[in-house]
Amino acid sequence: MDYTQNLSQEFLEFVEQQPHQSLRQLLTRVLQKSRLLTGAEAGTIFLVRRKRGRALLEAVNTQNDRVRVRPADFVVPVDNKTISGYVALTGETVMIDDVYSISPDAPYSFNPANEARHYQTHSMLCFPLKNYTNQVIGVAQLINRIKPHTGEVIPFDPHLAAVVAPVARVVGASIERADMLEQIRQKNQTLQNRNRQLAEHQARIATLQEQTEEAFLLSVGLLARAAEIHDEGTGNHIIRTNEYSYFIARNLGLPPGFCNEIHYSAQLHDVGKMSVDQAVLKKKGRLDDGERTEMDRHTTYGHQILRDSPRLQMAAEIALNHHEKWAGGGYPAGLAGIDIPISARIVQVADVYDALRSERPYKRGFSHDEARNIILKGDDRLDPFEHFDPQLIELFADLHEGFARIWDDLRDEAEPAPAVSS
Ligand SMILES: [Fe+2]
Ligand SMILES: [Fe+2]
Repeated sequence: MDYTQNLSQEFLEFVEQQPHQSLRQLLTRVLQKSRLLTGAEAGTIFLVRRKRGRALLEAVNTQNDRVRVRPADFVVPVDNKTISGYVALTGETVMIDDVYSISPDAPYSFNPANEARHYQTHSMLCFPLKNYTNQVIGVAQLINRIKPHTGEVIPFDPHLAAVVAPVARVVGASIERADMLEQIRQKNQTLQNRNRQLAEHQARIATLQEQTEEAFLLSVGLLARAAEIHDEGTGNHIIRTNEYSYFIARNLGLPPGFCNEIHYSAQLHDVGKMSVDQAVLKKKGRLDDGERTEMDRHTTYGHQILRDSPRLQMAAEIALNHHEKWAGGGYPAGLAGIDIPISARIVQVADVYDALRSERPYKRGFSHDEARNIILKGDDRLDPFEHFDPQLIELFADLHEGFARIWDDLRDEAEPAPAVSS
């Protein structure tokens, strides 16, 4: 009895010494130790798994000193067709002297199909691994007890059956804990992988959005250019208008969203000219009243072209209102003051400055100083205080050099530098 008690004691101490190890390490060591203490040449540990409501025993560790065994990867059902299945089903310990001479009356049977290649099982000790609530969580199967020195296969010591019950419970609880930790670790891993995939998806979506944004801006630019072709062929006029407008909006302290929108919307102010009667658009010389009315309609045509796109709402508003006047009397609606949207008031200043600087078939290009004088003080054709929002005249007076810089940076290739007026 001393021998079995010592055995039991030794096993319990062994398990307690190994509290924080992986499931694999724990299973390997438990099986090694079990074999060492019982003299078994081979063995397998199974864990109970549930798949679609069915309980299965999955071989998770197998060892054999005589022949090479493949890593354990087979499953057996929890039923009495195998010895391990029977042990899992009933929670009983089974000890057999020779599995090839099991009585036909025994409640279990041995399945030789599960033998390792070139190996024969004779004696067997098979006991359940239980958790603290007495549930079977696995099965340990020890095979072929070897007599020291002779190498002969002998039956297991019958006393061992009594020893394994408490041992199996402690081992079972440790295995269950390690198994849970393992499953939590695997779930965490899966979660991390999913998070990584999600991050990759988001990066891809961000790239797509960037590409969509680029495509959008390209389309808007092309639309503005297409409209220009029917007009006076004014080169970089539309791009410069974007830049002056952005410059004004920034310096007015308008929100970044507004500034970004006007940065691409300003260029579309004359897009309605696409719809103006070609004969009127291309006519040289004075327009009669009817022709003037048709020409002025480029504001409402532009609004019609742009108004249905959510991202072109500001562009539509600019197209409609960029010929209104601060003092009233502009077209198409004759709005005045702050009834004219700020976007359109900004584009007016940008558009007029650039038109003054540009050479046209009927006029030379003015120098920056000339253009500045006209915008600040007016000439025979333009009264700035009737035309422009006074706060924008003030801003222009302060920051006119910024306008000159934009003109210089984006000057048309063929545009000759105007003589500096003294
Ligand atoms: Fe216009
Ligand atoms: Fe323009």
